[in-house]
Amino acid sequence: MSATTDQPAVDLADPSAFVDGPPHEALAVLRRTDPVHWQPMVGEPGFWAVLRHADVVYVARHPEIFSASEGGVVLEDLDEAGLDGMRRMLLAMDPPKHGVHREPLSPHFRARVIGGLEDRIREICQSIMADVRERGEVEFVHEVTANLPSRVIGELMGLPEEDWGRIHEMAERNTSGQDPEIAAIDPDQAMNATVDMAMYAIELAGKRRQEPPREDLTTVILDADFGGKPMDDIDFGSFFVQLVTAGNDTTKTMLASGLLTLLEHPDQLAELRADPSLIPGAVEEILRYSNPLHYFRRTALADTTLAETDIAAGDKVAMYYTSANRDEDVFEDPQRFDIHRHPNPHLSFGIGGHFCLGVHLARLEGKVFFEELLATFPTIELTGAPVRTRSNLNNAIKRLPIRLGS
Ligand code: HEM
Repeated sequence: MSATTDQPAVDLADPSAFVDGPPHEALAVLRRTDPVHWQPMVGEPGFWAVLRHADVVYVARHPEIFSASEGGVVLEDLDEAGLDGMRRMLLAMDPPKHGVHREPLSPHFRARVIGGLEDRIREICQSIMADVRERGEVEFVHEVTANLPSRVIGELMGLPEEDWGRIHEMAERNTSGQDPEIAAIDPDQAMNATVDMAMYAIELAGKRRQEPPREDLTTVILDADFGGKPMDDIDFGSFFVQLVTAGNDTTKTMLASGLLTLLEHPDQLAELRADPSLIPGAVEEILRYSNPLHYFRRTALADTTLAETDIAAGDKVAMYYTSANRDEDVFEDPQRFDIHRHPNPHLSFGIGGHFCLGVHLARLEGKVFFEELLATFPTIELTGAPVRTRSNLNNAIKRLPIRLGS
């Protein structure tokens, strides 16, 4: 608690505040005492942290007041070029443009369509498990989880299999820039990875426009009507980057945090081994308890009031999934991990118009991955301390030393 305000001394803007795990106790106090909490930032305007489930839902469902496009979706203000790049992504579009770009894609991400990928995702998972079977000791984040989302997106987009390694390498370089260990490799690398990936996609678009259509997402996007015209190659490049990055870190995190959480709850892990039909419920609880993203930002377009707090036009507003997922008004005993929790209306995929397009794919990857992991390795142990990513956005683990016993 700070001496002057009786508020918990937590700085939600500071990436270091999350390295020992999210500040769940402080967030619980704030939900009771100051649920729309003002958080100052160093060197730029602060933001309103929206902490209760109902208020996060309200912000997400009112894009006419809370814009994704105006200031982008991350807390740190971007320069003009950065904001311009972000606004090419679905995530940072407002209606009506958002609908025009999302509608042609939605049918291809429906549960039934994505369900058709299950066998292929299982083969990919089995080959990932086979690669590490002999080794036993692995760094689980990079050597196991990271391989799944980049291969699945390669499959979905119809990329040649020999390119999957390249996509994987670019996606890995494009990860959290707030972590010095990741960013220090070369400060420009994350930006270069984005450009490299967009260039790859532009080249792909050029090639594929010359070829007959195929049954994949690349054909769908290149053929779709986006408000009376097709997507140009630059927009295709941005969209490709978004699909690869949106589904990469988040899915990796779901798998790595999921395993760690299960190892911390051995009774529930044993239950899953005994009855794999419990895995989909466990994946939902992993997503609630260890949500991969802490927040997304909006910007108020008009003066407004939320939970008796006045918000001015232009203010930044952050929807804290990390807090909403543990709101006592919605979840019984919210700090407890419980694979049987039902219903489980967590907000880890957001809600409203921007609700995650890849939700069914992420759930399917989670289900099949844990089915195959538990079926392949009768024993799984932690062999050292997990290391978390330094970030105020990504609730991620960057190293998870594991022994896989077969
Ligand atoms: C566990 C994994 C994942 C998590 C936790 C996650 C989370 C989210 C969240 C919170 C949003 C934004 C919602 C908002 O602003 O209200 C979002 C949007 C999005 N996600 Fe995911 N995501 C995951 C996996 C994926 C995958 C696998 C893909 C695709 C391959 C994907 C593609 C997208 C896209 C395209 C959007 C933008 C949708 C829009 O703005 O209309 N995501 N995701």
